[in-house]
Amino acid sequence: MNTHAPRFNELVVHEVVQETPDAVVVTFSIPNALKKDYAFDPGQYVTLRATIDGEDVRRSYSICSAAGAENLSVGIKSLPGGVFSNFAQRLQRGDRLPVMTPQGRFTAPLGGKHNYLMLAAGSGITPMMSIAQSVLAEELDSTVTLFYANRNTQNIMFRQSINDLKDQYMTRFLLTHVMDEESQDVELFNGRLDAEKLDSLQTAGLIRPEAYDAIYVCGPEPMIVTVCNALEQQGVDPALIKRELFTASTPPPAAGQRRDTLSKGNSESVVAEVEVLLDGSYRSFPINSEETLISAAARSGFEIPYSCANGMCATCRCKLTGGSATMTQNFSLDPWEIEEGYVLACQLQPTSGVIKLDFDAV
Ligand code: FES
Repeated sequence: MNTHAPRFNELVVHEVVQETPDAVVVTFSIPNALKKDYAFDPGQYVTLRATIDGEDVRRSYSICSAAGAENLSVGIKSLPGGVFSNFAQRLQRGDRLPVMTPQGRFTAPLGGKHNYLMLAAGSGITPMMSIAQSVLAEELDSTVTLFYANRNTQNIMFRQSINDLKDQYMTRFLLTHVMDEESQDVELFNGRLDAEKLDSLQTAGLIRPEAYDAIYVCGPEPMIVTVCNALEQQGVDPALIKRELFTASTPPPAAGQRRDTLSKGNSESVVAEVEVLLDGSYRSFPINSEETLISAAARSGFEIPYSCANGMCATCRCKLTGGSATMTQNFSLDPWEIEEGYVLACQLQPTSGVIKLDFDAV
C-alpha cells in the first residue's frame, strides 16, 4: 500500500465489461512508473474524477481486483440520477481519467488463519470480491462465509467470478444468495438481509457470531446500520465489525452552493487562517464562515485531498496539530483517531482564529 497523501494521476481505461444490465467493471492500466503508487490492500477504493456538464465531479469506487493484480478494476453500478455512475457506463477502452491513489481502511491484512464473515448487498459486493479473492489465495487455512443480498439473479454483480471462487475453494468459501424479488427453494434465503434474517440464519446455524475473526459489512446505509446493530445484539464484539459506507442519508453540500460561497469569499468574512502541511510543504489560506475548508483551499488555488466531501470516505483525513475545530459529521473516523487528533478536513469548522492541519500524519 502506498503511504503518500492521496493524489490524482491520469490513467487509461484498459477494458470495460458489462457486469449486469446496470453495472460495469472498469479496468485501468497501471504504467510501471506508477505501480508502487497504485499498489492496494484488498478492500480499498479509488476516487475517479471527470468534468461532467461543466462540473468537476469525483466519486469513490471500491477496487474489485485481487491484491497484486496487474491492473486495477472497479465496479460501478448505475444509480438513478447518479451523475458519475451513469457517465461511467459510457466509458470505453482508451479513455483517460484522473484516478486517485488507493485509499480506505475497509481492508484485510493478509496472513495467518482466519474465519471471515461477509455481508454484502448490491454493489456492496465490490470490496468483498477483492478481499475474498485475496484471502482465499493467500491464507490457505482461512475460510470466507459470504451472504450476498440482491433483488434477483439478474442484479447479481460478479456472479460468474463468485461461482468460480466457489468451485476453486469448495471447502473454504461458503456462499449464500439472499433475494427479495425472486423465490429460491430454501425459504430462509428469500427476503432481505435485515435483523430478522440474521436472527433466522443464526438460529439455523448458518451464522455463528462466535466463530468469526472479522466481519465485513457493505451495502446501502440502512442495511449497514440494521445489520451492524443486529450483529452487536447477537453478541459480536463491535471491534470485529468493519463497515464501508459510500452514500450517507445526508447529502454533501451542493456544488452550486460551494461555487456561490467561493465567489463570495472576501477578507471581511474571514473566520480563521488555515495552515496546512501536505507532502512536506506548508501552505496557508483564509476560510470564511460560509465556505467549506475544501472550497476555501480551492479559492486560494490549493487543493487538499478529498473525495466524498461528506464525512464518509476519510480521503481528507488529517491531524489537527494547532487550534481548535469541530466536525459537522463523521462516518469514518474511529474513536481512537479522534482522541489522537485526527479530523476530516471536509467537515471541519474552525473554532479558533488559526488552525493547523497535517495531511502527512499517518
Ligand atoms: S472527503 Fe470523504 S470524508 Fe472528507
